[in-house]
Order: sequence, then C-alpha cells, then structure tokens
Amino acid sequence: MDSIKKAAIAIKEAKYLLITAGAGMGVDSGLPDFRGNEGFWRAYPIAKKLGLNFQALANPTWFDINPSLAWAFYGHRLNLYRNTTPHEGFKVLKNLPHNKFVFTSNVDGQFQKAGFDEKKIVEIHGSIHYLQCTLPCCEEIWENKEIVRVDMERFRALDIPKCKFCKRVARPNILMFGDFRFVEKRVNEQLNRYASWLRGIDDKLVIVEIGAGKAVPTVRLESERIRDLFGATLIRINPRESEGGDIEISLGAKEALLKIAAFMLQFEKRI
Ligand SMILES: NC(=O)c1ccc[n+]([C@@H]2O[C@H](COP(=O)([O-])OP(=O)(O)OC[C@H]3O[C@@H](n4cnc5c(N)ncnc54)[C@H](O)[C@@H]3O)[C@@H](O)[C@H]2O)c1
Ligand SMILES: [Zn+2]
Repeated sequence: MDSIKKAAIAIKEAKYLLITAGAGMGVDSGLPDFRGNEGFWRAYPIAKKLGLNFQALANPTWFDINPSLAWAFYGHRLNLYRNTTPHEGFKVLKNLPHNKFVFTSNVDGQFQKAGFDEKKIVEIHGSIHYLQCTLPCCEEIWENKEIVRVDMERFRALDIPKCKFCKRVARPNILMFGDFRFVEKRVNEQLNRYASWLRGIDDKLVIVEIGAGKAVPTVRLESERIRDLFGATLIRINPRESEGGDIEISLGAKEALLKIAAFMLQFEKRI
C-alpha cells in the first residue's frame, strides 16, 4: 500500500492529532527554509556577502552592537511572514475533526494565521510577532505591532522597535543561538497547555510531522519522543528527509496533505 493511503487510514483511525512542523511547512506558501549555509544564503544573499551564516546572524549580540543589522534580518522576516498567506495544506489539517495540538519551531505565526487555536500551539523557538526587552529589563512579552522598514540593499533597518518599559532596543521573543536572554514566559505557558493536552490522551494518537530538518532537530526529536511515549504512529512528510517515520512521505507539504485529504474523501464515499 502506498504511504499516502497508509497515512489517510492512520489519521482516520485516530482521535488525537499532534501536528509537528519545521520550516519546510512554510515552503509551499513561498517562505524560505534555511537548509544549511547554502540554503540560508540563497534566501539572504546579502548575508553571504557579509560572511554571516544563520547561526552568526540569529545571535542576540547584534541587538547590542548593531541593532540596525539585527532588525534588518528580523524586520525583513517580520514583513515577509505578515504578508504571507498559509497554503492549502494548513486548511486540510485545520478541517480534520480530531482533537489537535501543534508543536512547531517556526516563528512565523502561520498556524494562527490559518485559524488554528492559539491555545493549542507550542512555538518552541518563540514568535516573531512578539517582542521582549534586549537586556531584558523585565520578563514582559508584548505583541509586535511595530512597522519595521528595511533597506535590503544596505541590509539596515530604518525603524528600531524599543522596549515599552525601559526604552532600550527591543527584540523578537525568539530563541536565538547562544541566547541566555530569551524570555521564556510565553513558551512555558504554551508548554504547560501542551503537557495537560498530552495528559488527557486516552485513545489513538497520530503525529503528522511536516518539513522538519536535521540541522536543528528539535521538532524531529519531539515527534519521536511522543511516538515512543504513546506508541503513536508517526507520519513524516519531507521531500528529502522523510526517513525514520512509521509512514514516510517524500513529497512537499501541500501536495502530500492534499493527496491525503483526497484519499480520505474517497474512503468516506466508499463506506
Ligand atoms: N518560517 C520560519 O519560522 C522559519 C524559517 C526558517 C528557519 N526557521 C528556524 O530555523 C531553524 C531550522 O529548522 P528547520 O528544521 O525548521 O528548518 P531547515 O531549513 O533546517 O529544514 C527544512 C526542512 O524542510 C524540508 N522541506 C523543504 N521543502 C519542503 C516542502 N515543500 N514541504 C515539506 N518539507 C520541505 C527540507 O527537506 C528540510 O528537511 C529552526 O530553529 C526554525 O525555528 C524558522
Ligand atoms: Zn526594557
């Protein structure tokens, strides 16, 4: 039996659905993933010119020593994510009748934009749509309503968001590399809700993992941990790296999810 059919049947038989997603989930909406240095530099050619890879640029120190460079990177991404419409694969997942929870390393807010319940999402690396103080002067996190214009030629932000409380530079509430100043309050609240959702599982669970890479394997490891803990079925959707799933689908997110939905519909008509 092919993997699409297997996935459709596994989903059909489950009551609970854990959706885990990495940057690959956004690719079919037109967002870049950051696969390796080459992938990152394809998305940010200017970073290549500056000799900065993802790890070097996604570093909180830039907010201290060069806020305009730091906000060029995050401001550009903020604008990109604000202007993106989630692809149809999100709708397929949203329309499934299961009791669902989302666990993602994406900071782009696309699940919320697609209409997923804000209270049933863990954004394990934080969100670009929330701000915190760079210092931080306090544990506060607030919604990012700022307009950040970016001169991409010079890779400089023209606007720098400021802390609401002390007026120092503000930064996205995103976990960066070598980051000891990330305010964890929001993600901890999300993790508490996730833990109580997991505690309530009393029937068959399926995990649908989409576009999670190996460079920062947070999402892959979480999918595997929950699979082992619950004896759940892991459906791994990834055009290049689907190995290790109980059901491996080597397609892009949108194509795979639409195919699964089409098969589920056929299946319903037959019974
Ligand atoms: N949109 C975002 O929020 C965003 C974007 C890039 C990176 N990041 C951050 O960068 C880190 C990198 O982690 P990562 O593993 O998510 O990204 P990654 O770039 O390392 O890996 C992306 C994965 O998606 C797969 N992929 C590519 N096209 C796909 C498609 N059309 N459909 C499904 N899968 C596809 C790739 O094969 C790869 O395995 C994380 O910390 C994440 O927070 C976030
Ligand atoms: Zn402050």
